[in-house]
This record gives sequence, structure tokens and C-alpha cells, in this order.
Amino acid sequence: MAKTAKLDLGETTIDLPVIEGTEGEKAVDISKLRAQTGYITYDNGLGNTGACLSDITFIDGEKGVLKHRGYTIENLCEKSSYLEVSYLAYFGKLPNADELSALKAQIKDVSKIPDGIKALIKSFPKDAHPMGITSAAMVALSGYYGHLTDSDLTDKQKQEIFPLMLGQLKTISAAVYRHGQGKELIDPDTSLDYTSDFLYMMTGEKPNVDVAKSLDVLLILHADHEQNCSASTVRVVGSSKANIFASISAGIDALWGPLHGGANQAVLEMLEAIQNDGGGYEKFIAKAKDKEDPFRLMGFGHRVYKNFDPRAKVIKGYCDVVLEKLNVQDPLLEIAKGLEKTALQDEYFVKRKLFPNVDFYSGIIYKALGIPTNMFTVMFALGRQPGWMAQWKELIEQDGFRITRPRQIYQGKTDEKL
Ligand code: CMC
Repeated sequence: MAKTAKLDLGETTIDLPVIEGTEGEKAVDISKLRAQTGYITYDNGLGNTGACLSDITFIDGEKGVLKHRGYTIENLCEKSSYLEVSYLAYFGKLPNADELSALKAQIKDVSKIPDGIKALIKSFPKDAHPMGITSAAMVALSGYYGHLTDSDLTDKQKQEIFPLMLGQLKTISAAVYRHGQGKELIDPDTSLDYTSDFLYMMTGEKPNVDVAKSLDVLLILHADHEQNCSASTVRVVGSSKANIFASISAGIDALWGPLHGGANQAVLEMLEAIQNDGGGYEKFIAKAKDKEDPFRLMGFGHRVYKNFDPRAKVIKGYCDVVLEKLNVQDPLLEIAKGLEKTALQDEYFVKRKLFPNVDFYSGIIYKALGIPTNMFTVMFALGRQPGWMAQWKELIEQDGFRITRPRQIYQGKTDEKL
């Protein structure tokens, strides 16, 4: 017999269906609660709310597990490329050799961005934040690929969108960087693989193989992360049947904030501030613990991970490897390691289960790769795009599709009169 949960509201008691996920997660289905009782639920920050049913990504925050379509993140980082993981997220299976080479060829065909998008990027002030330009360029693509903006897409359109978005965002991201540097934009080089082409368009030079490989792993680590703030934003916007360009542009905006993807930029700025202050991180730890001070240890803490963030573990390992391969000695890495060690022994962080997250070490690698600080969150967006697309595709294909429209508990004035 299907499991139910009893809810006793005093005046009435009802049985609510219990849903169990394939990894054993349990949820109480309250979708009929208001109709049956007149009550709604309240969940500040939605920390206890399952907003959808999903087959894409599983996280066990207590155990530090992250899986995409059943594959662990460690396994994917070791054995797959970013394009394979992107395909896995979007189509639900890893590509075979023919599917992968077809995807690579399709991306090469659609990696050049329209002249109007180049002009739009160039119209921004050189010191404009790259995330604002990237988001604007993304939504502007809707004007150039109008045939992909229907509110109900065919399977053929969904196939066409996938390589298009991967190709366009790669070139947009590199162009945004070039513009900020006051340099001419560079067109894609179709002889290069995805990550190498991005680096080539950014720097104008054919990249070192180790650098391209490291960046590819970083992109994999960011590919999807279930219902985070930006993925939820993509789903909310997509639920109004807004087109994919608008939905992903909104995801980019959500990612920009320092509590989400913008933390990678904030971490590096924090490490530099510690360095400029003489390198003593204890003062910054004390600030983070002080409830009167809004400062937080950037790159620390996570809504879901309460043990460790498996992505941070992989990145930390890569930090040592990349810096050694590139022959870079960055004192910020030592400051980061010291900060982590001290915080992990401090009762404040231990009690609240605050650990380094994906953003804590990623900036040190981006810096070693020559990527400027204000581009870090664009790198996150580039990596996260397949996850957003997969979340959007799953949303529009789901049985029982509905617009997302939460309720509220009104606490304002009543019966005012003029
Ligand atoms: N430094 C100091 N205290 C912290 C921190 C931190 N980084 N993070 C959480 N806390 C404290 C917080 O003050 C609260 O304390 P108390 O119980 O005494 O009020 C407690 O820990 C729980 O925090 P919360 O704000 O309720 O946790 P949350 O799940 O709402 O927020 C978070 C999660 C990631 C926004 C938060 O940990 C944070 O602001 N971290 C710093 C920003 C950051 O690194 N963001 C990147 C997240 S991972 C990648 C991504 O999503 O893009």
C-alpha cells in the first residue's frame, strides 16, 4: 500500500501521499492541501520544498555525494569531457562515439555569433561587469533565432537548440572578455575542441593542452546542481512558457549574486584583501563570526552540503596540479588552505556545518589560467549552461506542466480607508 503521512490540524486530520525518490529521499505531497483544508505551507528560502520531480541530478548533502543521471561527479571528471557531460544532462544518456562527433560538428557550425550580438557587446562600457553583458547578449539571441522562441517546441527544435546554445555562449563569453580588455573580438577556430576554442577566442593564442584539460574539468564540475537559485530561476521563467533565451538569461542574472555563482569572484577578492592586510586570516574569521558584521566567509557554507562539497574536493586537488604544471606560485593558495584549516577547527563553523564550497578554490585556478577576476562568474555560467538547458527541457516535457506561482501569507494592513 502507498505510504501516507497524517497531518493533524486540530479541526481536521488528513492523510497526505508520501513520494519516495529513487535514492530514498522522502517527500510529503501537499499539492491538494489547500483544496482539502484551506491551509498553505510556509518555508522561508524553500529549504524544505521539493519544487519538482527530476531525473537529472542527485545530491546527498549529508554524505557529500553528487551524481548526474546516476554517475558520480568524480567518475565523470575522470572519464568524460565537458561536452559528454553536457549531452548526458540534456539528453539523459552519455553520447556514443558517433553522437559525440556529430555534436562537435554541429557546435562548430553554430559557434559564430551574429554581427548584431558583437555590436551589442561592443556597445557596453569597457568596465561594465561581464555578467550583465553576457545576460544581455543571451536574451538578445532571441532576436536572431526567432524560429526557436515558440512556446511549444518540437523535438527537432530541441535538438537544434542544444548545440546552438553551447556554441553561442562559448563565443559570447570570450567576446565579453575581449571587449573588457579593449581588444578586437576573435571568431571561433573550428579546428579546436570546445574548451581550447574558448581559450583561443579569449587570448588569441592556441592554448596549452594541460590548461584546456583543467578548464574542461572545471566546466564539468559546474555542469548542473539540481534546484539551486539559478536553475530554479530558469524553471520559474520557463514555466510561463517564456523562450529558452529569456529563461537562461534570467538564470545568468540569478547566478551573478555573491551568495550564488558570484561567490567565486568574491572569494578571490577576499583572499586578496587578506593578503593586502598582511596575510593574517584570523581577523577575517572573527568578522565572519560576528553577528553585527554582515561579512561572511565567501566560498564557505552551502544550503545542501552539510559534510563536504565533493566539487570543492576535486578542485582543491586540481589547484595543486594546475599551479605546478603552469609553474605558478600563488601565495593566495596558501592563504586559502590556511583559512580553510583554521575555519574547519573553529567551533562556529563546525557547529553550523560550514565547509568550503565549489567557489572556494575555483578562482585560484581561473587566476592561474590567466582569467581575470570579474570573468569568474561568466566561467561558472558557461559551465552551468547544460544544466539550465536540461532543467528547462525536463520542465517543458513534464506531465502536469503548470506555471510556477507560489502563494504568500499576507501580513500587511487590513481595511485602510481614504
Ligand atoms: N560565513 C559565516 N557564517 C555563515 C556562512 C559564511 N560563509 N554561511 C552561513 N553562515 C551562518 C549563518 O550566519 C547562519 O548562522 P546562524 O544560524 O547563527 O544564524 C548559519 O550559518 C546558517 O546559514 P544560512 O544563511 O541560514 O544558510 P543558507 O543555507 O541560507 O545559505 C549560503 C547558504 C551558501 C548562501 C551561505 O552559506 C553563504 O552565504 N555562504 C557564502 C557565499 C557562498 O560561498 N556562496 C556560494 C554557494 S555554493 C555555489 C553556488 O551556489 O553558486
